[in-house]
Amino acid sequence: MKSNILIINFSLRNNSGSGKIANYIKGAYGEKATVLNYIDLNLPMWDEGVWNKDPKWEELLNPIKATLKLCDGLVFVIPEYHGMASPAYNNFNLFLAAGDEVAHKPVLIVTNSNARGGSYPITEVRGLGSKNNKLIFIPEHVIVRNNVEVLNEVLNESNSEDKYIRDRIDYSLTILDQYCIHLKDISTKLPSDPRFKNGM
Ligand SMILES: Cc1cc2nc3c(=O)[nH]c(=O)nc-3n(C[C@H](O)[C@H](O)[C@H](O)COP(=O)(O)O)c2cc1C
Repeated sequence: MKSNILIINFSLRNNSGSGKIANYIKGAYGEKATVLNYIDLNLPMWDEGVWNKDPKWEELLNPIKATLKLCDGLVFVIPEYHGMASPAYNNFNLFLAAGDEVAHKPVLIVTNSNARGGSYPITEVRGLGSKNNKLIFIPEHVIVRNNVEVLNEVLNESNSEDKYIRDRIDYSLTILDQYCIHLKDISTKLPSDPRFKNGM
């Protein structure tokens, strides 16, 4: 694969299913993929100091923004918690608002559950996600159900779901890579109007 992708694991747990999946995706994509674990960022809940450029926030957010700026595309690995996307995702989204680090970059959404869930976060993220940050969610997404049984170190030949989800991830990453390549210079060609910095 050709592009730099950033995989963000939005689990609030150590040793999470989302972390396992994020690392699997990194291995499948190759060396141009980087994993960021939300839980390692120690990000508090957003407060107004972010807008007022409070040095506490600048110190926390500047390295994250620099990492986001470097990538050509993203993979959001989002666990289903109580039929919702992990709240870590919503908090993170506030820090991206109206910034230019991620505008017009493609995102592959990957949700997961240790049972049969995973579909609710897809609709939630697609419905709420990108008014101000201007991320582009690609049409393809991946739902990893029964996450304990798949994407482990060795392919489980007796579970057809394991092979299926690995193939599905490869397919989706190939599509994401093409979006990365073709959207890369789009921001240089788009008009800019400070009145319309935020989406409507
Ligand atoms: C607070 C909480 C709520 C959860 N709610 C759901 C749920 O509504 N549906 C579901 O399928 N799994 C639910 N799970 C289980 C997750 O699917 C499971 O932990 C999975 O591995 C993804 O989360 P993780 O990345 O944090 O491990 C929940 C887990 C937690 C910690």
